[in-house]
Amino acid sequence: MAEKISILGINGSPHKDGSTFGMLGEVLDSAKRAGAETEVAHLADLGMEIYHGDYEKEPGANTLKFFEHMRKFDGYVFASPVHWLAPSSLMKILIDNLTYFEAPDFPLQGKVFGVVTHCCEDGGFQAGAHILSVLNNIGLVSPPYGLVLRNRNIERNEDTEWMWQDTALLGKNIVKQIKISKNIKDDWGY
Ligand SMILES: Cc1cc2nc3c(=O)[nH]c(=O)nc-3n(C[C@H](O)[C@H](O)[C@H](O)COP(=O)(O)O)c2cc1C
Repeated sequence: MAEKISILGINGSPHKDGSTFGMLGEVLDSAKRAGAETEVAHLADLGMEIYHGDYEKEPGANTLKFFEHMRKFDGYVFASPVHWLAPSSLMKILIDNLTYFEAPDFPLQGKVFGVVTHCCEDGGFQAGAHILSVLNNIGLVSPPYGLVLRNRNIERNEDTEWMWQDTALLGKNIVKQIKISKNIKDDWGY
């Protein structure tokens, strides 16, 4: 029997039941409908240590514990509220600690991810593009339309409706991309 696809949703909001978590849930529900098993990690619960800034040194114990768990999954959804036109500080601490998964081994190479950001004014694309580019830089791959942002105060009409609809598309496409990637036993260069 084919192995189940597993996806970890990572909530970078200090609010464990806020708008960002709502968006994340939409992506994971869609991934479940496409056949995946899903789980949520709230960064607010993990006590992840602030990154020490030394390439040669291991991250702190809480961070390593989470990374060990994280590596078991085929794919990820990184969800962040926009804080001052940027990802939340919880998400930034995760991103900085992910430096551990950089050169020389790039252990997350080829794993799949999507990003969602939630805001009420501006900065959704900027914050999401930041997360997207860092993850790509450490070897992960996103499907088409891999970043969905939502501005709760924007008028919902035919031009903006994608901000609500594309969370479901993202969940489906992450599963699709994982299936494609699992079939390619290739070396991506590192
Ligand atoms: C410290 C802080 C900074 C924020 N900065 C922005 C911002 O730059 N742009 C914006 O649109 N919303 C900003 N917001 C609003 C949040 O992005 C918005 O309320 C979001 O929906 C919160 O998601 P949550 O419920 O998951 O925490 C900020 C909120 C906080 C607390």
